[in-house]
Amino acid sequence: MVHLLATLLALVTVAACSPTFKPKSKPELNTIAKQHRKLYFGTATDNPELNDTAYRAILDDNRMFGQITPANSMKWFATEPSPGEFTFHDGDVIANLAKKNRQLLRGHNCVWHNQLPDWVSTGTFTEKEILAVVERHCETLVRHYRGQVYAWDVINEVFNDDGTFRQDVFFNSSGSKFIPTAFHAARRADPHAKLYANDFNIEGPNAKSAAYQNLIKTLKKEGVPIDGIGFQSHFIVGELPPNIKENMEAFTKLGVEVAVTELDVRMTLPETPELLAQQRKDYETVISVCQAVKGCIGVTVWDFTDKFSWVPGTFAGQGAACPWDENLKEKPGFFGIIDGFN
Ligand SMILES: *[C@@H]1O[C@H](CO)[C@@H](O)[C@H](O)[C@H]1NC(C)=O
Ligand SMILES: *[C@@H]1O[C@H](CO)[C@@H](O)[C@H](O)[C@H]1NC(C)=O
Repeated sequence: MVHLLATLLALVTVAACSPTFKPKSKPELNTIAKQHRKLYFGTATDNPELNDTAYRAILDDNRMFGQITPANSMKWFATEPSPGEFTFHDGDVIANLAKKNRQLLRGHNCVWHNQLPDWVSTGTFTEKEILAVVERHCETLVRHYRGQVYAWDVINEVFNDDGTFRQDVFFNSSGSKFIPTAFHAARRADPHAKLYANDFNIEGPNAKSAAYQNLIKTLKKEGVPIDGIGFQSHFIVGELPPNIKENMEAFTKLGVEVAVTELDVRMTLPETPELLAQQRKDYETVISVCQAVKGCIGVTVWDFTDKFSWVPGTFAGQGAACPWDENLKEKPGFFGIIDGFN
């Protein structure tokens, strides 16, 4: 007993003296996520905002963010503006930042119907041609960042909400054949990167999430490498779908990991104390679901401050979607995230 007490006392003394036990002035989201056995808490970021020093002070702190995602600079328009001519400058800036900050990097993305260069979006291709275009793009992009990326969004938003395939240039030219082509190319290019499908409106059980579950089953049966599903999670205050946890588990049962990849919770402006309080609850709900599902490996917000959120530019009259406000001050949603882990 005396021995046990002495040991305990020694442990407490060590803990009190250890820097990790110092009282924190600010809670750190990545530290908290890792304490709760998640791989990371992360954020999207974008090249034009990297000159903002106050923003950088938060972004570069890997106790706050253990992972970053380039919001735009690895997309097709940015990386292969003309056929076979690749430009990685802006993507490299983000990849180098992750390395310098010792943060994980998510690659975003290989194949998406949006933000394509004209030569892809308005081109006409035979099946053979489009598959060669997809293969060259994915293989070159993923190979360039080989060893630097934790996970790639290999395919992004390939289904409509009703569960049918989106009729984009890839589907119209090849049916769904571009999907295995993209995954195989990515695996060859970086065998250690986790390969994901990523989409919105798949967070709850519905026709679209069912379509992804069927796709994952088919791909696995055919030996196509898919490791994860990204729940984008662009939500509206007070309108989270029910049964996100059950739906996450339906995916993890198929042998893929889940990540919340683009979380934000927008509202119709102006913001009010009531909306901010509901937003806090919504952030807490999403985090607590990921916390409760072992196969949910991490959460990424789609930028952390309203100053640089994509929402006002895309949804007229809406905004205030992020956990930090335009002045880089934590909002109630920030504390909802902390509560969700606890
Ligand atoms: C950062 O650069 C952008 C353009 O890329 C510019 O609009 C903005 O004013 C700059 N911000 C600062 C703080 O220098
Ligand atoms: C794909 O085909 C559908 C049906 O013919 C058409 O409505 C759609 O515009 C096509 N999409 C592209 C990107 O060509």
